[in-house]
Amino acid sequence: MRKPRKRFALLAITVIATTGVLTACTSNGSSSSSSDGGSSGETIKIGLLLPESKTTRYESFDRPLFEDKLTSLGNYEVIYANADQDAAKQQQQAESALTEGVKVLVLDPVDGAAAASIAESAAAQDVPVISYDRLIKSDKVDYYISFDNEQVGVLQGTALVDRLKQDNTTSGLIMINGSPTDANAAEFKKGAHSVIDPSGIPILAEYDTPDWSPDKAQEWAAGQITQFGAEMSGIYAANDGTAGGAIAAVKAAGTEPIPPVTGQDAELAAIQRIVAGDQFMTVYKAIKLEAEKAAEVAHQLAQGDTPSPDTTFQDIPSTLLTPVVVTVDNIQETVIDDGFYTVDEICTAEYADACAAAGLQ
Ligand code: BGC
Repeated sequence: MRKPRKRFALLAITVIATTGVLTACTSNGSSSSSSDGGSSGETIKIGLLLPESKTTRYESFDRPLFEDKLTSLGNYEVIYANADQDAAKQQQQAESALTEGVKVLVLDPVDGAAAASIAESAAAQDVPVISYDRLIKSDKVDYYISFDNEQVGVLQGTALVDRLKQDNTTSGLIMINGSPTDANAAEFKKGAHSVIDPSGIPILAEYDTPDWSPDKAQEWAAGQITQFGAEMSGIYAANDGTAGGAIAAVKAAGTEPIPPVTGQDAELAAIQRIVAGDQFMTVYKAIKLEAEKAAEVAHQLAQGDTPSPDTTFQDIPSTLLTPVVVTVDNIQETVIDDGFYTVDEICTAEYADACAAAGLQ
């Protein structure tokens, strides 16, 4: 029996085409320049700058969920741009947004250190900055909204170590970390090391993936498979994009069975790989809560209110949400029950048999 559908209001699983230019989006997602439903009459512009589009979350979840929530709160226009992992491009996008007169800047930085200059320009123009998901390394940040990112790494590392010990396949693992310019990547890595290092399982090799590029992760993993062969009994991959690259490398090398591979983001392709047995686990982060919180805080800051933080992180008023492990055993209780995906979206014809075996139907 299928569970009833519990979908988000504006959730579209299809990836919205991205452009390098700023687009103005309203409650209906179009490119017109105003939205209705506001009380003040005047349309207030809010900037949303996201870092890349190879990871599906940004265009499929973060952007539409943020826009939908914000335009439900008042007469807002979202000035949106995706940097495609290019820090210089993001700098220009931020300058354009400030020139367009945004009242608040919601910034998920490609490069947390380089983005400090964006935060400074915004502050010089009295535009509050929300550091969204990734930390901007600046004291000019008004609010930080993310997950407990060190805990993401702890969850990944713990799941992998437990699984390798359970399977008695502890000869060695490789670590495919995230981008060196992303502060989150350092947190994931720190959390994972805190579990893997004392486990006694050797780390054969480790790589910080430039730009979180799945292609670069695949290329590096291919080299490690050649070098270590069967000694490589597990793969720590920091997110589902790099996990996909690693799994493609293992398949291309014809290695069987595929060693346990970790991930993060609960991307649809990753959930399908988990159902099929190609990927071991991922970490589900409730992006709806994150994006909607960002919209609420942007609304408060735009109204001149001071948001009350849930916590502080490095002295910045913050909200840090809780990540959750997903394996084949709890897909229903996590991403399906939470309305992130329907069974139909996961269990396409190609995965029908695997879904039935996993009890998803
Ligand atoms: C995010 C992850 C994402 C990665 C690559 C990180 O900062 O927290 O969810 O997979 O960036 O974009």
